Amino acid sequence: MNVYPELRTRLDLRNRLTALPTGFYGDVAQHQADLELIWYREWLFAGHECELAKAGDFLTLQVGEYPLIVIRDHDGSLRAFHNTCRHRGSRICSAIHGNTARLTCPYHSWTYRLDGSLLSARDMGDDFDASKYSLKKVHCAIIAGYVFICVAPVAPDVEALRQQAEPYLIRHQIRDAKVAFESTIVEHANWKLVWENNRECYHCTRNHPELLRSFPDQPTMAAGPGETAADARIEAQWAQWEAAGLLSRYSISANHQMRLLRLPLIEGKESLTMTGDAAVRLPLSLEAGASGLGSLLFYHYPSTWNHILADHAVTFRVLPISPIETQLTTKWLVHRDAVEGVDYDLKTLTAVWQATNVEDQRVCQENQIGVLSPAYEPGPYSPIQELGTLQFMDWYCQTLEQRLP
Ligand code: FES
Ligand SMILES: [Fe+2]
Repeated sequence: MNVYPELRTRLDLRNRLTALPTGFYGDVAQHQADLELIWYREWLFAGHECELAKAGDFLTLQVGEYPLIVIRDHDGSLRAFHNTCRHRGSRICSAIHGNTARLTCPYHSWTYRLDGSLLSARDMGDDFDASKYSLKKVHCAIIAGYVFICVAPVAPDVEALRQQAEPYLIRHQIRDAKVAFESTIVEHANWKLVWENNRECYHCTRNHPELLRSFPDQPTMAAGPGETAADARIEAQWAQWEAAGLLSRYSISANHQMRLLRLPLIEGKESLTMTGDAAVRLPLSLEAGASGLGSLLFYHYPSTWNHILADHAVTFRVLPISPIETQLTTKWLVHRDAVEGVDYDLKTLTAVWQATNVEDQRVCQENQIGVLSPAYEPGPYSPIQELGTLQFMDWYCQTLEQRLP
């Protein structure tokens, strides 16, 4: 099925100043094109290095049609493989994470070493050559404690990503953190609707009372430098942070796929909690002074956005399931020595984003139902509030355009 001519027409008809038409949000062929032209070509956030500390620690994820596994080998290296057996293709590992000495297929017990090579396969005959049946490799890179994978035969340049992100992230010690809590939800909405919603706070006043206790509604900061300017308070705060060695000002990749920016919280608030106080006694980040570090906002399309605070970090992983379903995994990271019940209380730590995720899930799902209506007609973006959404849409459409055969 060649859907690309139809897709090209759809893109040509795009009005840049309005939301996208229905076809982008529910169509199976469109979704397949999104997978093939975006999800199967980009570096994607899989999980954190600190979750895979020991040999045999693994995590699995599903990227479109590809089941994948990331695992720590005995030599300390992290490796990613296609999680499909070289015998008759069964998925090998169904657990979300765990630890294992080897990978044994549950179907006929072909068994692989942690480096992906086939260790044993019973009754395959004398001329069977096990060396031909290693697990297929997936690109894997670690950036300041974030594990990225890419299923493309040739991955995009990861060094550009590293050079931009690492100087911002490194002071937050994500590499040596621990995951205090994680949640995975399914939003019955196209992955783009999830991102469009994430990239604006037009909906915050009505929908996010918990988040707005500490997070400033700063629509002018959403898009990027050039289009908007920081106010005097933010400029002063940036200068102070940067003097302490913490990169804070905007950094946006040329194609706008990735942005890092440290945003002050509401005056007097230190963290994204219901009170605005730090949730963790032992700070996660270096240089965590009394005034806090605001929130380091880090996104990388299409798979992750993050809030990295002085006391903890909240990281988000987006994965597409179907045209109308998206998986969202949220992880709360704290200092690895922080003890639950002593240094932090789980409910206090997670309350704001647990509530915010449910609220976003609701608005995205209602958005999905509405855009599938034959009566839906894309309306205009707010030029004040929705520049971030427009910027995401530009990245998405330009990326598709460049890659359409
Ligand atoms: S499919 Fe894995 S051992 Fe047969
Ligand atoms: Fe939201």
